[in-house]
Amino acid sequence: MKKEYILALDQGTTSSRAILFSQKGEIVEIAQKEFTQIYPKSGWVEHDAQEIWSTQLAVMTEVIAKTKLKLEAIKAIGITNQRETTIVWNKKTGKPIYNAIVWQDRRTADYCKKIAEKGFERIIQEKTGLLIDAYFSASKINWIINNVKGAKQLAEKGELAFGTVDSWLVYNLTNGEKHITDVSNASRTLLLNIHTLQWDKELLDIFEIPESMLPTVCSSSEVYGHTTQEITKVQVPIAGIAGDQQAALFGQLCTQKGMVKNTYGTGCFLLMNIGKKPVISNNKLVTTIAWKIGKEVNYALEGSIFIGGAVVQWLRDELGIIRKSHEVEKLANSVPDTNGVYLIPAFSGLGAPHWNAEARGTMVGLSRGSNAAHIARASLESIAYQTYDILKAMEADSSSRIKELRVDGGATQNSFLMQFQADILKTKVIRPAITETTAMGAAFLAGLAVGFWKDTKELQALWEEDKIFAPTKSSKYGTQLAEWKRATETAKFWANY
Ligand code: G3P
Repeated sequence: MKKEYILALDQGTTSSRAILFSQKGEIVEIAQKEFTQIYPKSGWVEHDAQEIWSTQLAVMTEVIAKTKLKLEAIKAIGITNQRETTIVWNKKTGKPIYNAIVWQDRRTADYCKKIAEKGFERIIQEKTGLLIDAYFSASKINWIINNVKGAKQLAEKGELAFGTVDSWLVYNLTNGEKHITDVSNASRTLLLNIHTLQWDKELLDIFEIPESMLPTVCSSSEVYGHTTQEITKVQVPIAGIAGDQQAALFGQLCTQKGMVKNTYGTGCFLLMNIGKKPVISNNKLVTTIAWKIGKEVNYALEGSIFIGGAVVQWLRDELGIIRKSHEVEKLANSVPDTNGVYLIPAFSGLGAPHWNAEARGTMVGLSRGSNAAHIARASLESIAYQTYDILKAMEADSSSRIKELRVDGGATQNSFLMQFQADILKTKVIRPAITETTAMGAAFLAGLAVGFWKDTKELQALWEEDKIFAPTKSSKYGTQLAEWKRATETAKFWANY
């Protein structure tokens, strides 16, 4: 085995990470740095774009220093990133004109409602596969143009650049030489036509964004450019880019149509590979580009859950019924069931397949005997039930039955949750040996571009399972699933009463 490596840069919502992978797909070194979360007003979430870059550069340098690697040993860099987060910078100075507006930011919700009321919903869904929502980039770019002093004039003169975090990192890694993005990130902006793979003039008009601001759209696996000597003494090719959820789908080797992954993080993100043609959802899922390799495009259906693992933090930080997150499993296992308790963690509304921004957290079925263990168990079960709802929507949209669910993210260490997930789905849940699948996906995409790995067949051999959670044969959850559905309706009803 050659002593050569791929460096993955994983720029997430709360931290910047750099991970070095060997040719066997093993993790050689990791460095991670958290950065500041900025909440200027209720519902607003920002990051300092310069801090995103400086932390990313710092962890990259740290990995290289720790491993004492010669830079020549790094055959390529792959980038994966928090998606939709919007950065606008001045092309002349290279400086951002405003903080990065993060995907979670809701400041443009009313503006999005107005766009929907104008009757653009259908055309936007047909062209982009997305729903009109403040989550995606377009309304955030519009906000910056119209609210940052001088921005409109600069935009009109063609002097502003927009990028998602991948673009921003490449721009800095190449010292301002490249203004590009990949199709998977571009498909999260509400501006890309996912059929033609080009920025769409009609969409740009709807959101009043000049085309001159936009990056060049590239594939997910090609040499886009090289790091400059100011960054690394030796120029290293930047050769793979994908949004973090699409990268995780690739890292899980869900490369065949019908394969599905779920990342159990603060929220959960489910993606299903739907093959070479986009399917527009009838069940409020979004259609997105998974990746483009060579000339081949793969599409995915996606459903996001806003509160996944965060419900455990809530038990710990707000209710105080556990001291450490991992204690939740023991507490949940101390009772045989929830004793009829259901918790809908709609703390910030409900994501797919409901998209109900007004719904709020609801607990039903409490009795005199309900205790902390029942609530802990109901909280974990809520993560699995929400996943169930999205998988059923995916099955309906794709007219197929899901055969297995590949999982990653912190909460997959919770065996109770994984087993319950398998039981209610009546489907195998597979946890891989390396759960750093997001970074791995970016490394794979970069490695393929420079011939470090030959093809996806070679990658398949690197993917290993750690544990399969098979559904318990005797498990019957018909009643609970029906009750969960009723409880969800209650959370929505409460909001709209
Ligand atoms: O769409 C948002 C998603 O890309 C954020 O992922 O892992 O940074 O929370 P993460």
